[in-house]
Amino acid sequence: MQVSVYRKAQFNAAHRLYRADWPTEQNNATFGLCSNANYHGHNYTLIVKITGEINPETGYVIDMKELKQWIDEDVIEAFDHKNLNMDCPEFLNLNPTAEYIAVVIYNKLIKRLPSAVKLKVKLYETERNFVSYEGK
Ligand code: NI
Repeated sequence: MQVSVYRKAQFNAAHRLYRADWPTEQNNATFGLCSNANYHGHNYTLIVKITGEINPETGYVIDMKELKQWIDEDVIEAFDHKNLNMDCPEFLNLNPTAEYIAVVIYNKLIKRLPSAVKLKVKLYETERNFVSYEGK
C-alpha cells in the first residue's frame, strides 16, 4: 500500500543566471531578465513528495515533524533570504536555475530518507514556471 505524503515550503532568494565564459549579449539572449547583472529575487515554492509504505505501528509513511526539520535545515536555512550565487556554496559553480535548485534540494533530502521511500521535488520559481526532479 504505497501512499504519497507532501510537504510545502517557501523561501525567497536572489539569483543571476549567466555564464562567465559567454558575452553579455549571449547571456541576455539566453537568460533574459534572470541575467540582470545586479541580481533579482524570486519567491520559490517547494513541494516535497515522499512515497512509501505505511508503517503499521505509526500509520505514517514518514514522520512529518522530521521532514519539516530536514527541509528547514537543508533548504530554508541554506537558501532563504540568500543570494544563491554569492552566499550559497552549492551554486558557486552551478547556474542557479530552477532545474539545478531542484536537483540540489533533491540531493540533500535524499540523504535524510530511508532507502525504501521515493522522493520527488517540485519547485515553483513563479506561479507559472515550475520544475520537478525525482532522481535520475
Ligand atoms: Ni530569475
